[in-house]
Amino acid sequence: MPRIRYASILRIFVILGLLCVWLQIMLSATTGILDKDGDTKIEDSFSISNSTTNPELPFEEELMNSNETSEQVLALVPPELHKYLTVHPKNITANATERYAGRNVSDIRRAIRRYNDAQTVYNEDIFGPVQNDTIIIAIQVHTRLTYLRHLIVSLAQARDIDKTLLIFSHDYYDEEINSLVRSIDFTKVMQIFYPYSVQTHTNEFPGMDPNDCPRNAKMEQAIKMKCNNALHPDLHGHYREAKYTQTKHHWWWKANRIFNQLQPTATHTGMVVFLEEDHYVAEDFIHMLGLLRATADKNCPNCEILCLGTYLKTYQYHSNSDKRRKQLNLSYIQQVRAVNEERRKRQQESQWNFQVYPNLYSNTQKVEITPWHSSMHNMGMVFNRTVWNSIMELQEQFCAYDDYNWDYSLLHLSQNRPKREKFKVILCKGPRVFHIGECGVHHKKSNCNASTVISKVQKLLKNAKPYMFPARVTATITAGGAKHNKKLTKGNGGWGDIRDQELCTNMTKIGRQPRRYTYYA
Ligand SMILES: *[C@@H]1O[C@H](CO)[C@@H](O)[C@H](O)[C@H]1NC(C)=O
Ligand SMILES: *[C@@H]1O[C@H](CO)[C@@H](O)[C@H](O)[C@H]1NC(C)=O
Ligand SMILES: *[C@@H]1O[C@H](CO)[C@@H](O)[C@H](O)[C@H]1NC(C)=O
Ligand SMILES: *[C@@H]1O[C@H](CO)[C@@H](O)[C@H](O)[C@H]1NC(C)=O
Ligand SMILES: *[C@@H]1O[C@H](CO)[C@@H](O)[C@H](O)[C@H]1NC(C)=O
Ligand SMILES: *[C@@H]1O[C@H](CO)[C@@H](O)[C@H](O)[C@H]1NC(C)=O
Ligand SMILES: *[C@@H]1O[C@H](CO)[C@@H](O)[C@H](O)[C@H]1NC(C)=O
Ligand SMILES: *[C@@H]1O[C@H](CO)[C@@H](O)[C@H](O)[C@H]1NC(C)=O
Ligand SMILES: *[C@@H]1O[C@H](CO)[C@@H](O)[C@H](O)[C@H]1NC(C)=O
Ligand SMILES: *[C@@H]1O[C@H](CO)[C@@H](O)[C@H](O)[C@H]1NC(C)=O
Repeated sequence: MPRIRYASILRIFVILGLLCVWLQIMLSATTGILDKDGDTKIEDSFSISNSTTNPELPFEEELMNSNETSEQVLALVPPELHKYLTVHPKNITANATERYAGRNVSDIRRAIRRYNDAQTVYNEDIFGPVQNDTIIIAIQVHTRLTYLRHLIVSLAQARDIDKTLLIFSHDYYDEEINSLVRSIDFTKVMQIFYPYSVQTHTNEFPGMDPNDCPRNAKMEQAIKMKCNNALHPDLHGHYREAKYTQTKHHWWWKANRIFNQLQPTATHTGMVVFLEEDHYVAEDFIHMLGLLRATADKNCPNCEILCLGTYLKTYQYHSNSDKRRKQLNLSYIQQVRAVNEERRKRQQESQWNFQVYPNLYSNTQKVEITPWHSSMHNMGMVFNRTVWNSIMELQEQFCAYDDYNWDYSLLHLSQNRPKREKFKVILCKGPRVFHIGECGVHHKKSNCNASTVISKVQKLLKNAKPYMFPARVTATITAGGAKHNKKLTKGNGGWGDIRDQELCTNMTKIGRQPRRYTYYA
């Protein structure tokens, strides 16, 4: 008798406990998801279609490096990692002119060449050489240093991080970013620099050439002007904008560099994880990677892509720029309709979030096998050299496709593989990679800041701690929604210029490069 009473009391406690956890999830979820500027979005999308220099565009050239880390966020970061969050006051007081005193474009180019030639792997003496199966974590970095600091803090706390190689790929050269990256002491680190950046090509392609056609010029007008790319507008009739093409170029260059060009990764056959500067990882992401790999080997040999992320919210970066492209050519009524549709989708996605969070807390973690879709599965994407080689065979599907998004270009390639199925992805339904950069750029007007989102993710992970490192996962196979399986007909544009297509193809032709050391006085 007492045994049974004991058991039922225990059950009540467990149920109460679960209820508490659930309540907390709901609370933490609701506080962030309400979109405070849902209404101003409409204005945004209209004004965007008219102006070429919109202040809300995602490519801020100024280094984003403010000290907005709140005490609340700091409290959840182990003290020994505070050093990665410390903004040196001396450096923020200097304005851009001062920071670059003595650093002109030719200096920067020389520094970039030197780094790229040397192919140095830092900390190899402490953590051992790069092996064929070392997990490589490739991080694409632009200028958002505040977020990068937090990504590094999250990586530092991940188990088994000391067995990986972090490759930071930069398209913006800055001493402050470099000294942060070089201060990493918890695993092997490499830095590579995209050599065709807008920063180092201020008056020439791939930057903006003074004789390039204005974005909104009509074709006949452009031909009369005899501007460089008059004959090659994109499918919407617009001419290229250098900063928009850079992300796809950089992504492509980085993958080519890692698989085909670098010496330290020449015989690497293991997994390569693709992250961006504004991502944040859970402490068991490497463990989950192993589980995903094992599950794929057993149940889905043709799952070529692994994915660690699920979006907390729509990927602002994307949805906004896509909207911008798509709505250029719509009537007023159509625009209103599109905006309403966008809002409806966003609402749906927030509801969907509520279902995602509790998955983090269930002991038997769920993974899903589904057709790979660009905008859903582009965060924390993982594949290996075998898959890369199959991508390389179809490089023109990527390079010649009139879409400035790397993930949509990859989707196009995926859908056009002769005699092969589309890419399949195996993904964790409880995300192990989070997107913390949703504020900061598009939410300048609202009071949404980096600290708010980071603290939300921190809390979520803290609550999930007991459920991290699951021993096994259960896989479900889904066919994906109609949207996922819809064949892309035409791209989002922004990639009509043949110079962009040619540069992209040129990057695939560069072979393995020996390490070279050059010494400067
Ligand atoms: C769009 O731009 C044109 C030319 O710059 C300007 O005359 C017009 O007022 C703008 N329209 C809106 C709605 O801002
Ligand atoms: C940055 O912010 C934190 C927390 O508000 C504060 O403790 C620290 O002194 C600040 N650092 C600088 C250099 O302003
Ligand atoms: C930046 O600092 C330099 C040197 O102190 C000064 O000459 C320049 O006007 C400053 N620029 C701005 C935009 O404040
Ligand atoms: C760049 O700066 C260096 C000194 O730091 C100078 O020697 C060189 O001539 C400069 N180059 C250009 C193109 O201004
Ligand atoms: C930033 O400040 C730190 C510490 O004061 C210094 O070590 C570093 O060199 C500075 N970076 C730049 C670009 O001045
Ligand atoms: C790594 O792979 C290369 C080529 O496949 C092979 O020659 C080499 O022995 C491997 N190295 C190790 C340590 O397994
Ligand atoms: C690379 O990925 C493919 C597809 O997921 C897989 O079949 C293969 O076993 C992987 N290769 C290695 C060496 O892990
Ligand atoms: C929209 O684009 C189509 C071609 O894609 C073109 O024929 C049409 O004139 C454009 N409409 C406007 C209003 O620009
Ligand atoms: C950013 O968020 C922190 C913590 O939520 C808050 O203390 C701070 O006032 C916020 N800053 C701005 C500019 O909204
Ligand atoms: C691509 O490579 C060819 C041959 O080296 C060169 O002539 C051409 O200028 C390159 N194009 C671009 C856009 O870099």
